[in-house]
Amino acid sequence: MSQPTIESILQENRTFAPSAEFSAQAAVKSFDEYKALYDRAAADPVAFWEALAKTELHWFKPWTQALDWSNPPFAKWFVNGKTNLSYNCLDRHLESQGDKPAIIWEGEPGDSVTLTYRELHQQVCQFANVLKKMGVQKGDRVGIYMPMIPEAAVAMLACARIGAVHGVVFGGFSAEALRDRLVDAAAKVVITADGGWRKDAIVPLKPAVDAAIANGQTQVTTVIVAKRTAQEVTMVEGRDHWWHDLAATVNSDCPAAELDAEDNLFVLYTSGSTGKPKGVVHTTGGYNLYAHMTCKWIFDLQANDVFWCTADVGWITGHSYVVYGPLSNGATSVMYEGAPRPSNPGAFWDVIDKHKVSIFYTAPTAIRAFIKMGDDHPKSRDLSSLRLLGTVGEPINPEAWMWYHTVIGKERCPIVDTWWQTETGGIMITPLPGAIPTKPGSATLPFPGILADVVDMDGNSVPANEGGYLAVRHPWPGMMRTVYGDDDRFRKTYWEHIAPVDGKYLYFAGDGARRDEDGYFWVMGRVDDVINVAGHRLGTMEIESALVSHPAVAEAAVVGKPDDLKGEEIVAFVTLEGTYTASDELMKELKKHVVGEIGAIARPGEIRFADALPKTRSGKIMRRLLRALAAGQEVSGDTSTLEDMSVLEKLRG
Ligand code: WTA
Repeated sequence: MSQPTIESILQENRTFAPSAEFSAQAAVKSFDEYKALYDRAAADPVAFWEALAKTELHWFKPWTQALDWSNPPFAKWFVNGKTNLSYNCLDRHLESQGDKPAIIWEGEPGDSVTLTYRELHQQVCQFANVLKKMGVQKGDRVGIYMPMIPEAAVAMLACARIGAVHGVVFGGFSAEALRDRLVDAAAKVVITADGGWRKDAIVPLKPAVDAAIANGQTQVTTVIVAKRTAQEVTMVEGRDHWWHDLAATVNSDCPAAELDAEDNLFVLYTSGSTGKPKGVVHTTGGYNLYAHMTCKWIFDLQANDVFWCTADVGWITGHSYVVYGPLSNGATSVMYEGAPRPSNPGAFWDVIDKHKVSIFYTAPTAIRAFIKMGDDHPKSRDLSSLRLLGTVGEPINPEAWMWYHTVIGKERCPIVDTWWQTETGGIMITPLPGAIPTKPGSATLPFPGILADVVDMDGNSVPANEGGYLAVRHPWPGMMRTVYGDDDRFRKTYWEHIAPVDGKYLYFAGDGARRDEDGYFWVMGRVDDVINVAGHRLGTMEIESALVSHPAVAEAAVVGKPDDLKGEEIVAFVTLEGTYTASDELMKELKKHVVGEIGAIARPGEIRFADALPKTRSGKIMRRLLRALAAGQEVSGDTSTLEDMSVLEKLRG
């Protein structure tokens, strides 16, 4: 692991305070109020969360202990408490606001559906009964591989309702990537759709499910298919069923199961630096509270807000801020199927205009793409409904932040730059928009109850403006509980990089950061071998394995190279088996191969053929050198561990 450096971070001195009007109506109204809240929470985090859990969520039975941290790093929150996330998202809102829109869905071709809380509740109950009828029981894992249609949210909530554990797999992943995840989770049921609309074309999903199941590695015996695009699909007799056919056979009476706070809620796979993707496990009560509170305070939810988080439900952002956070708060959540595309580069602005979106949450890579498409698109739509903007997924460069602030926010809307991870369940470092002045490029300060810090390898806080490792010093309710089926990997990946201080474990996030003189966090990106392409984490190891599985490839090393649009672009260094020679055709074929193995998000931007890869004497590939080469920089720093200096010369030439 390379020590993060602070040289690469440009100094940014502008600050932007929220307007007096915004602060006056916000949940947390001033910096002093935030500070008092933060200090109170930091003095006793467990009491802080416990008080919120009591007032903010419904419990069938109270807990006996708010936090059990007797066996670190395995935390238990709200021990013995009984609750249900689907109940908190639906049932408890029915009486007071049954007719309020819960989900406003916009299809890419322009069709739209609004589901009120009552309607969504009815659909979730009905589909929960479908799952039961198909033999799904509490604790069973259910794969969800769907486009952005309301049925995706219905399927998630239905699993949560009966205590089945959902594993959503992003619809852009290939059949192979889907198979790996279904195998790891030992899922017996997969919920999918015939296809979805994206960039004016149908993305077929069912054939990928068929291919994922084909070689018999998975345990899938039932596939439920929602109809969206209505093209021809093959249905396997006895295994595959249409959603609407099954729904017609059950009623919609399905009381929410009284689940344990620590019952598994979902598994979501994310990339790590080594080995296969990790199944990040989140549980019921703590995750619910964390998604709820962060959504409430960070997006400053008010009764009439229309909240649009553009993330796909295949990512954690879609879990926490398209589905669970907004619905737990009784808010209106917008779901959009499509993407900006040549036939309509202003598609997002149309959605805001049409549905009067007031809170808009997207990724820096999308913002950079908008800038490229030109200001005419947003300027020709009515964006006056917006009052708050957010970003997530990667550091946002100050230029993109300023564009977002002026062209979209009209210098009126605070921007919340939110740092968090699949593992953290919800946002960890962020402005509270009515309270914390923002600085372009900084995620600002930790959420109350989050004891975040920047530390060295021994767990000591580093001085202001020095680079170090982003870490969290105290458990929080939304933290992941383990890696699915691999407690050891959980411990090693997140809790053993930094030595426990006085027996106290620190959570290691894998990001480099510094804090400035005001205590603001500036996240510098990953310190491990994870590449962040367009806000999506990809493990270099996964892409390397995909390359090596091609018969022509002997060895592969993958690094990220800075990219204006995507944040990072994938560059692969490849050595070939003896009988193959480098060519443009082979390069194209290898790119295609990676897409087939993982999905289009993992397509290498560049493949460089090499005679050999630079390695240490112990055989470890020196990625630091490759990163510098890929970025066209001079290779600096220590190369004394390089086994064969001539390799470097050749790669450079
Ligand atoms: C990066 C997405 C800087 C970071 C919610 C983290 C960020 C990884 C930010 C998690 C941000 C996310 N500023 N970097 N505001 N938000 N990251 O698991 O490297 O897909 O570790 O979760 O994205 O990615 P993940």
